Amino acid sequence: MLAKKVLFILLSSLLVSVTAEARDHADVLLGSPNGLALTPPMGWNSWNKFACNVNEKLVRSAADGMASSGMREAGYSYIVIDDCWQGERDHAGNIQADAKKFPSGMKALSDYVHSKGLKFGIYSDAGTKTCGGFPGSRGHEFQDAQQYAAWGVDYLKYDWCNTDTQDAQSSYLTMSQALQASGRPIVFSMCEWGNAKPWLWAKNIGNLWRTTSDIVDAWDYMHPKGWSMGLLHIIDMQADLAPYAGPGHWNDPDMLEVGNGGMTDSEYRAHFSLWAMFAAPLIAGNDLANMDAATKAILMNQEVIAVDQDPLGVAGSRIWKDGDAEVWSRPLKGGGRAVILFNRGKEARTIQVTWDQLNYPAGLPAKVRDLWQHTDLSSAKGHVGAVVGGHAVVMLTIKP
Ligand code: GLA
Repeated sequence: MLAKKVLFILLSSLLVSVTAEARDHADVLLGSPNGLALTPPMGWNSWNKFACNVNEKLVRSAADGMASSGMREAGYSYIVIDDCWQGERDHAGNIQADAKKFPSGMKALSDYVHSKGLKFGIYSDAGTKTCGGFPGSRGHEFQDAQQYAAWGVDYLKYDWCNTDTQDAQSSYLTMSQALQASGRPIVFSMCEWGNAKPWLWAKNIGNLWRTTSDIVDAWDYMHPKGWSMGLLHIIDMQADLAPYAGPGHWNDPDMLEVGNGGMTDSEYRAHFSLWAMFAAPLIAGNDLANMDAATKAILMNQEVIAVDQDPLGVAGSRIWKDGDAEVWSRPLKGGGRAVILFNRGKEARTIQVTWDQLNYPAGLPAKVRDLWQHTDLSSAKGHVGAVVGGHAVVMLTIKP
């Protein structure tokens, strides 16, 4: 009798600690200021390709391109105008679009984007001026949020230029609250470049936060002052950030450069694969009206997109590194793993991963699929490897 009682106590305390652990884990993962972006947002933003050359014709053509190319069906939905759309504030302080660039006005443009079955996004800045020198939202947060809602805005990217001594956390919180007070569901994209480590505090403020300064369309580049960087540097900066991402709140290693011409197709495949590994927002930054076949094949690789959008929402980590060879992995819903064998170097090399490294049951045979070749490899047990070309990835799923 006593033994039974002891066993019961033991079992129930075990149960309590298991549930507590599960709850802690869920608490880390869940968290969204507004219930939005339960998978990483997918869309397009004007900045990487067009910088300040934005106007309503360009934005309409991007919406047309997204709708006609198959990108909309592939899961992309947000059409986001970055900096330089703003005119002056009116006498009441309301922000207005530049009437030369946007003669039909923002509401008409937003209606057009919505008519294509897409969502509409816009850009502002927490400081007095945007990075391009246009009016920022400082002191106008609630007024601007109301204006965006009236225009039908679904997504706000909020930059960090000209913020002087402002505190990042309270500045982003103010706009987050302003968006919620607007009554319209608006995804909040924080563009603070990772300066104040937003992954530590922004889970209930924004849906995504930039983790680095600006991406440059290059494999390996670093601005002398760190103000922008190429792919490899951005990738390295994501290596320890996986625990901070989850449904509703994502690390944002900046927008995609796929199709912009500064890297080879193989390098762009690596770029896209790793962003999916990070559970990063997939925000295309190219000219959607003019995409070659290779660009389309990368941006619309449904198997890689499925990894990015995996409902479990656990981001991937670097689990092994030997010089230029790396292995990255993330758990998928249903017990599988997504794996990237990543070769940063110029020469091809063989890269291998063991089930052990993946925390995958060692004796369990697995179905292995190559997400770029779109082929099933023969069922593997214990390990899998491949020859990976220079500046390339092999991306696999390993599933029970
Ligand atoms: C900053 C941001 C970029 C872009 C520009 C616009 O540099 O990090 O993504 O929005 O401003 O001026």
